[in-house]
Amino acid sequence: MAAVRMLVLRSGLAGLRPWAASSARFMSSSPSFQFVEVERRGAEGSVAVVALNRPTALNALSEALMSELGQALDAAEREASVGALVLTGRGRAFAAGADIKEMRGRRFPDCYREDFLANWDRLARVRKPVVAAVNGLALGGGCELALMCDVVYASEEAQFGQPEILLGTLPGSGGTQRLVRAVGKSLAMEMVLSARRLSAHEALQAGLASRVCPQAELLDQAVALAERIARCSQVATTMAKEAVNAAFEVGLAEGCRLEKRLFHASFATRDRQEGMDAFAEKREPRFTHQ
Ligand code: CAA
Repeated sequence: MAAVRMLVLRSGLAGLRPWAASSARFMSSSPSFQFVEVERRGAEGSVAVVALNRPTALNALSEALMSELGQALDAAEREASVGALVLTGRGRAFAAGADIKEMRGRRFPDCYREDFLANWDRLARVRKPVVAAVNGLALGGGCELALMCDVVYASEEAQFGQPEILLGTLPGSGGTQRLVRAVGKSLAMEMVLSARRLSAHEALQAGLASRVCPQAELLDQAVALAERIARCSQVATTMAKEAVNAAFEVGLAEGCRLEKRLFHASFATRDRQEGMDAFAEKREPRFTHQ
């Protein structure tokens, strides 16, 4: 608990009333965040926008950047007033993948012993909904980060690719698995085996992204979606995310059983009562996330 308090204090979250500003930075000032910026957006500050900020290296995912990303995600996850997150990149890339210069000297024993990249799954384990706002190149680990998000919005300049094969290796953070589930086997194989990149419109057509918009509108549109999600009951959005994600892990009967249990469980929440009362009384619901 003390550690949580320290992180909140260091990140500036403690003194920030979430309703006070529609775009308030709450972690960027922290000296511990050099490569990641976080700001609160949305009418009630209910959206945490996490931006990868190492533009001179096209947001290459160094160990330091990924460690900061993990800390930023932990903080947003803990902050009760954050209902949804947006992940984006500064500059012309979303992220150009793992930092090749940093990892070029690695050998198998180090990778194996340290379980290299194991911490990258932190994003996939975030329980609050995450919208990717892919502003440019999403290559290698960058594409894999986008695939870990719940919804992908792309700018017209976005490109998605798994170019690891050109480096004599293969995707190492879920690309071979999540990409197949997103776009199907043939296109995933084409991308992984030949490094062919998808344009934003191809990604939309293939189901990797659900919206393409002009670069200038991307962040606002992603924030608008995240804000709309954050207005709902956090308990319900977390349950819904868990249920949808189960579709990738378990068979149909088991997935439907889990869904039914979560649906039943929602009847134990005040928010479910409030939502149905509000409908019957023809008014807006006031969710308390209880
Ligand atoms: N790692 C380290 N540095 C990178 C990088 C990366 N993945 N991608 C770009 N950079 C650096 C470049 O080295 C360059 O730095 P300097 O100015 O110091 O030379 C800077 O970012 C700008 O890049 P370029 O000059 O290369 O820009 P460009 O427009 O000519 O090319 C690019 C852009 C096609 C994306 C090219 O940079 C590139 O091919 N990058 C590597 C992409 C890649 O292979 N990604 C996969 C990495 S492996 C991986 O991610 C494994 C995994 O599954 C987790």
